[in-house]
Amino acid sequence: MGSRKRRRSQEWFGRDGKMGFIYRSWVKNRGIPHDQFDGRPVIGICNTYSELTPCNSHFRTLAEHVKAGVFEAGGFPLEFPVMSLGETLLRPTAMLYRNLASMDVEESIRGNPIDGVVLLCGCDKTTPSLMMGAASCDLPALVVSGGAMLNGHFRGETIGSGTSVWTMSEDVRAGKMSCADFMDAESCMSRSAGHCMTMGTASTMACMVEALGMGMPQNATIPAVDSRRYVLAQEAGRRIVEMVRDDVKMSQILTRKAFENAIRVNAAIGGSTNAVLHLLALAGRVGVKLELDDFDRLGHALPLLVNLMPSGKFLMEDFYYAGGIPAVVRALGDLINRDALTVNGKTMGENTADAPCWNAEVIHSREKPIKERAGIAVLRGNLAPGGAVVKPSAASPHLLKHRGRAVVFSDIEDFKKRVDDPALDVDQNSVMVLQGAGPKGYPGMPELGNMPIPKKLLERGITDLVRVSDARMSGTAYGTVVLHVTPESTAGGALALVRNGDEIELNVDAERDARLLRFEKWLSRVIVRRLPGGSR
Ligand code: FES
Repeated sequence: MGSRKRRRSQEWFGRDGKMGFIYRSWVKNRGIPHDQFDGRPVIGICNTYSELTPCNSHFRTLAEHVKAGVFEAGGFPLEFPVMSLGETLLRPTAMLYRNLASMDVEESIRGNPIDGVVLLCGCDKTTPSLMMGAASCDLPALVVSGGAMLNGHFRGETIGSGTSVWTMSEDVRAGKMSCADFMDAESCMSRSAGHCMTMGTASTMACMVEALGMGMPQNATIPAVDSRRYVLAQEAGRRIVEMVRDDVKMSQILTRKAFENAIRVNAAIGGSTNAVLHLLALAGRVGVKLELDDFDRLGHALPLLVNLMPSGKFLMEDFYYAGGIPAVVRALGDLINRDALTVNGKTMGENTADAPCWNAEVIHSREKPIKERAGIAVLRGNLAPGGAVVKPSAASPHLLKHRGRAVVFSDIEDFKKRVDDPALDVDQNSVMVLQGAGPKGYPGMPELGNMPIPKKLLERGITDLVRVSDARMSGTAYGTVVLHVTPESTAGGALALVRNGDEIELNVDAERDARLLRFEKWLSRVIVRRLPGGSR
């Protein structure tokens, strides 16, 4: 191995004496030949496999393909488990454990003889927690996402994870669908291994991985069960060995330019509002200066290019066949930092220069977008002096500028108790307000922001209302939903002061001077407007 720098793993495996014996001997109990300890790159495969995380339940197979690649390239793979966060089963909410899982990842990498790591990510929180933990160690690292499930099909219609659940459950409440039919749809929606196949948070974060340069091209969109997913995993195994040899650290990939690319791609794909929380946390781990207003400043003016649920009608499988993230990056053209380095050793520009778009109905051009000004908007005003976010691509355009009377719920239990009460004083102009669902009020900050519409309005055909809360929202959800109101109500935010009948004004398209708004409690008026990025 010449005069190269002594690898980190050699602090364990390269030792003589009693400690060297101990470090090697126990690993040999699986039948590992002695030459695997000769200084070759030791690659950790950080696996979030769990049957309690259905979206990641195929990861044993995925890991085998990564291992094959590591061996081929002359590395020594060592797979290890970390806490796996499944969105559907874990209570009270997977977000409560994101940082705990990241600590698990960080200490597992830091405390073991690992030179580089492949992160196997799938369900929503597994992607940020693994990247955050690995970023704190700053070794060479590469993400292999698990891929989305195949498209759902139910009685001649395409149905998508989450999004169609919300739609169908509202249909049941409105009396338009029977409970039996609703149950039938269960197995029609989740047809294969993989994560939610809408542009929910898992798909969004997989797209962020690719946009950040942390995944190989097409990592985000190849379906979980497509053989090409396994080819990508094997190639990733080969590549991480090279990255260790070249000492390409995570901090060289996760630059400010990479985050700017991610924010812009998130706008173009109609990505989840959860990306705001995760990208800010990840940037903090690598010391990149990123703030809430960057999402507005860099992303809000961008058009929606990708026609996926919940903002559009297609699903991840269609997105892959249409060209995936490389086609989106190419379509974004000069909005992308093309010189940003990616894990395959090439720049973002080199990876996407010739990326074809095979279906212009799924991936639109900037000249013919699906919606204009569709990226996440950051709102400020006396109701949210610290900011709030809204996702215009999944909202009703006619409600993005709206004024209405507040219908206030003091917490989610209050909401559940009263939402379908025929006596609830609510109409199509009302603004539903939920308090007590922020990180302190409801640890984990659950995805409750898209409060179901009151039954009596659903029965009248009303499917969207302005909703305001300090909660989060599933990336698969839709509606005119203002989220992450800061400060949260439990931490003394103005949201706690809102009472039934107070007036709330939402103006996502407000001009710059709209920031001169104040909380006028004596007039029972509470105002939220969109302010220009970074100019509060
Ligand atoms: Fe795992 Fe949606 S529940 S990605």
